[in-house]
Amino acid sequence: MSKPLEGIKIIDFTHVQAGPACTQLLAWFGADVIKVERPGSGDVTRNQLRDIPDADALYFTMLNSNKKSLTLDTKKPEGKEVLEKLIRESDVLVENFGPGALDRMGFSWERLNELNPKMIVASVKGFSDGHHYDDLKVYENVAQCAGGAASTTGFWDGPPTISAAALGDSNTGMHLAIGILTALIGRDKTGKGQKVAVSMQDSVLNLCRVKLRDQQRLERVGYLEEYPQYPHGEFSDVVPRGGNAGGGGQPGWVLKCKGWETDPNAYIYFTIQGHAWEPICKALGKPEWIDDPAYKTAEARQPHIFEIFGTIEAWLADKTKFEAVDILRKFDIPCAPVLTMKELANDPSLRASGTIVEVPHKKRGSYLTVGSPIKFSDMKPEVTASPLLGEHTDEVLAGLGYSRQDIFSLREIKAV
Ligand code: COA
Repeated sequence: MSKPLEGIKIIDFTHVQAGPACTQLLAWFGADVIKVERPGSGDVTRNQLRDIPDADALYFTMLNSNKKSLTLDTKKPEGKEVLEKLIRESDVLVENFGPGALDRMGFSWERLNELNPKMIVASVKGFSDGHHYDDLKVYENVAQCAGGAASTTGFWDGPPTISAAALGDSNTGMHLAIGILTALIGRDKTGKGQKVAVSMQDSVLNLCRVKLRDQQRLERVGYLEEYPQYPHGEFSDVVPRGGNAGGGGQPGWVLKCKGWETDPNAYIYFTIQGHAWEPICKALGKPEWIDDPAYKTAEARQPHIFEIFGTIEAWLADKTKFEAVDILRKFDIPCAPVLTMKELANDPSLRASGTIVEVPHKKRGSYLTVGSPIKFSDMKPEVTASPLLGEHTDEVLAGLGYSRQDIFSLREIKAV
């Protein structure tokens, strides 16, 4: 089955997570992604947190599937010459080097645009161009702090907290992929490439937009009724950390289930949707709450919402998280078990849908990864192994018209 991005050639000048997550997604959808790596070492994640000596680390294999690897020293004249040839025949170049690195290498946007005016140049940086921090190098947690996630995550009596979800890295990569696809469609209309830039701070903030909503509400009315601080606690002039409170218009909390004393993940998330109050009361065996004025409306419930959660926890005490959800789902209550990575890795539904996939690898044996979270009716993205360092160098160079002799001499240069 032909894939929508087949025929799109991408120079993948990315490393670590933000850039690789973007190009991996495009590779799943059919793009020819050529990862350009420094000879001898390659992407730093090949070596980071290795679990098998001498084999690429999972950090690398899980972010670089379906790609080719070309080793090239792009600071040397011979390497630059190869890169220029590749640029002339590619559709997209993606990079997430530190600020100014590409310019220092001699490949500024102006130069790239001169070499190939149709090429899209896509970049991830920590901060946007012109921002007062635009010279900073940035990793995941730095971005979470700069983008508003850390100040609004965690409990009010603890420090700002980092989320395990890669809001700064993979999330920024997903934003960049949308930008690239948009620029490709734009190019169909104008015939011109363009520069697409996404900052990690902006991408985190984009996901924290409801917290900016809350800041404005707080400034107007002085309180936020869905936060645990309401009505008994104090609000300052900034959005507080709300623990596990629901972020939308309906209260929710993480609640203990049977076994929580020994299992740190024996919990469910329970949401009290306003219009689901009656089924909630029925599910909990509390029909008397349905018309009780102290419980009947969301407004009446809010002052004693934690007492209500306490009653639900008492109901959950003899049920596992799975048993509880099996009962609550029959009442149409939005809830889920708190799932561990082990449970997710072995989840038959996720295996069947292609969200968790097992990929054979030349050196590692097989490994688990997260496949495409985007599902299509006419295409099933296949996940193939990440490339070994330089695995496709000869193939890519031959494709650029280099003779066997040239490739041999370039190989000598690569090894230096
Ligand atoms: N051949 C020769 N040199 C190469 C090369 C190649 N194939 N590939 C990379 N390099 C060089 C670059 O030219 C640069 O050299 P220079 O600094 O002398 O100009 C260097 O390798 C890479 O620099 P940099 O990207 O700054 O690496 P770093 O390890 O110091 O910093 C980050 C890593 C992630 C902090 C930084 O790249 C960054 O801030 N990126 C933007 C935001 C981002 O994506 N963050 C990470 C998200 S996971």
